[in-house]
Amino acid sequence: MPGYEVLGEEEKKEILEVLETGVLFRYGFPTQRQGRYKVEAFEKAFAAFTGRKQALAVSSGSTALKVALAALGVGFGDEVITTGFTFVATWEAILEAGAVPVFTEIDDSLNLDPDDLARKITPRTRAVIPVHMLGAQARIQEIMEVASRHNLPVIEDTAQAAGGFLQGKALGSFGSIGTFSFDSVKTLTTGEGGMLIMDDPELYRRASEFHDHGHDHIGTDRGLEGRSFIGFNYRMMELQGALGLAQLRKLPDMISRQRMNKGRLKAALSVLKGVGFRHLPDPDGDTATFLAFFLPDAEKALAFKEMAGKAGVGLVYFLQNTWHYYRNWEHLLGQKTPCRNGWPYRAEGGRDLQYPPDALPKSDALMARTLVLPINIKMDETFFGKVEQLVAEANNKFF
Ligand SMILES: Cc1ncc(COP(=O)(O)O)c(C=O)c1O
Repeated sequence: MPGYEVLGEEEKKEILEVLETGVLFRYGFPTQRQGRYKVEAFEKAFAAFTGRKQALAVSSGSTALKVALAALGVGFGDEVITTGFTFVATWEAILEAGAVPVFTEIDDSLNLDPDDLARKITPRTRAVIPVHMLGAQARIQEIMEVASRHNLPVIEDTAQAAGGFLQGKALGSFGSIGTFSFDSVKTLTTGEGGMLIMDDPELYRRASEFHDHGHDHIGTDRGLEGRSFIGFNYRMMELQGALGLAQLRKLPDMISRQRMNKGRLKAALSVLKGVGFRHLPDPDGDTATFLAFFLPDAEKALAFKEMAGKAGVGLVYFLQNTWHYYRNWEHLLGQKTPCRNGWPYRAEGGRDLQYPPDALPKSDALMARTLVLPINIKMDETFFGKVEQLVAEANNKFF
């Protein structure tokens, strides 16, 4: 999934244009910056690319989630529903907002299960955060239906799926707000960075002000005179905006190269006995950053992973990967915190957040037989050959 594979002259040119002016801050310095507003230009281009009216660049995909929750007014005592298969940032942002993360099962798209969402809604639910994991779509239309029946805003965590679509509509543009990450391993990268997209001008004003210490952002002006609420600093800087502009132009090509590689690898794996593939609601809109497949059981999945490792084909087994799956978040499950008073798990008034390890049995069963092959923009014949040979050997050996 990494855009760093194709960093080149285009990025250098954009970066140099910033360095020539010496203005690294996204706001102000009108004379010195010679008309160069890289972050603003990146926002405009990203909004156009995703078909939304507004885009707000921020310092990371994690802070994009935090800003989105603040813009929607989520806070202490609220519950926010998300999926048990995501990067820790999704629920960290919910805790950061003072709210309580509630986790759903995943379905065979490996994303938030809309049926479980309906079961997990309570009178305290204030928002839903589906995640388009591993570059491809959650069942976002069904999720939107459930959420709108309960009048709940949806934040689409599209950190891993910039450039993805569902039936021609950009991922991230279905909910009230879509959030993105451009960190160093994402297809579109600015090193660190993130974006929010939305249509509602009032939501945009709230997000924009919150991400800039609460300073008034009225119309196109950034006034420093008044503040309607407190905020913090989640701003993106000009060098990141410059990188983002160059990378966004390359995104369709990066994705089409990933799709070609993924197609080759899927064809090679499809002759593995007992294999099944992750459900993609719209294969044409997949960003093709990962190829996820299922084997009949955990024993076969582990045996195949080990064999693949020896053959130089690195597979991820998320049931044991400590970053992305509920069961492995030992700090959350064990109520670990730097705060001496136990926040955010405990608070005056009896709050005591408990996350039992076996809360998501359906997801555990699916994850136990799921393997994932990361797809790069640049992959060569030698690697494709390795995978073909691996599959042939595995079919002979243990299937
Ligand atoms: C699903 C998901 N959400 C949020 C984030 C956080 O993004 P960042 O690393 O830019 O803070 C990530 C990063 O990998 C992610 O995968």
